Amino acid sequence: MQENIKKLRQLTGAKPRANLGFYPTPFYKLERLSGQLGVELYIKRDDFSGMSLFGGNKVRKLEYLMGDALAQGSETVVTYGATQSNHAMQTATACRRLGLHPVLFLNAYVTPDENDIRANMLLDRILGAEMHVIQNEPGETDQQTEQRCFQTGKEHVQRLRDAGHKCYDVPMGGSSHVGAAGFADGYGELMEQCVQANVRPQYIFCATGSGGTQAGLVAGHHLVGDAAQIVGVAVSRKKPDEYEAYCADLANRALEWLGSDERVSAADFTVDRGYYLPGYEQPSEAASDAIRLLARTEGLMMDPVYTGKAFAGLLDWIKQGKIKPGSTVVFWHTGGATALFSEQEIVGSVSREG
Ligand SMILES: Cc1ncc(COP(=O)(O)O)c(C=O)c1O
Repeated sequence: MQENIKKLRQLTGAKPRANLGFYPTPFYKLERLSGQLGVELYIKRDDFSGMSLFGGNKVRKLEYLMGDALAQGSETVVTYGATQSNHAMQTATACRRLGLHPVLFLNAYVTPDENDIRANMLLDRILGAEMHVIQNEPGETDQQTEQRCFQTGKEHVQRLRDAGHKCYDVPMGGSSHVGAAGFADGYGELMEQCVQANVRPQYIFCATGSGGTQAGLVAGHHLVGDAAQIVGVAVSRKKPDEYEAYCADLANRALEWLGSDERVSAADFTVDRGYYLPGYEQPSEAASDAIRLLARTEGLMMDPVYTGKAFAGLLDWIKQGKIKPGSTVVFWHTGGATALFSEQEIVGSVSREG
């Protein structure tokens, strides 16, 4: 296995990479919660990735995305997301670090209050990102607004390119094959830590949204060939089978880009759709309970949109016996705790006493 980890990191190490985060991120056992839950529970702290105080999973992707942008001589970076997107904020941060101009097309699932701008949107403002907020129009579904947001952004990119600007277009969540490659590398990093600590994960849980994180992890896992099962807990509606196929394609394009002949299939993706309701950026009781449990047992902060729901999924797998007592489980903390300071509609009832 160690030889495979080395080969994986040689592949990722050969690609252009902007040095943005602090790696390896911490990896350790949650002793108190392990005792309480009856499993060996470890955590991978990508919320500690940097670049600023407000880190998260996007930094791994951005190291490769920005490396690619710089290699192509880009001066402007355009990306997409919700108004409270962690990815958009981290992209704006990366751009500022590298002297690039950040342009954000932000879809208002939750309408921001101009007199009380919060959380990631506040950080985007402080960073001076060029922000285009796309509001829902009467009669439009969230999906239609999202499509209009992409369309408007793409037209903007074309206009910039037509005017002779070198513009790098980053898809939502940074989930291109280049971004996903960052998580294949991240898998190698985790496995190096596991070897050193003599830990053999049977399950690795993460939140899955735009797919790049899980695609990269599955690609890395395939190259390393260890026995862990990677479980993505969906944070938004995903069409049956389609999402797994989309993630497999993303992973395979990442593998090809890295120069590997290995390929994965949709069957390599375990995606649990049981914990995102009532919907994206809409809080659930189970996520609020999970956030309070982690805070009160381990002093750890999760968020209501991604990690809270993913951790609620993990707790339920343990409760249902899908994870047997004594199993070794890693929770990949993907960041996002800025959402605790966002609009009440997103935060929900997490501050309730109980
Ligand atoms: C905190 C957090 N966790 C998890 C994810 C999901 O990652 P991915 O979009 O790569 O599936 C995101 C994506 O925005 C995120 O911000």
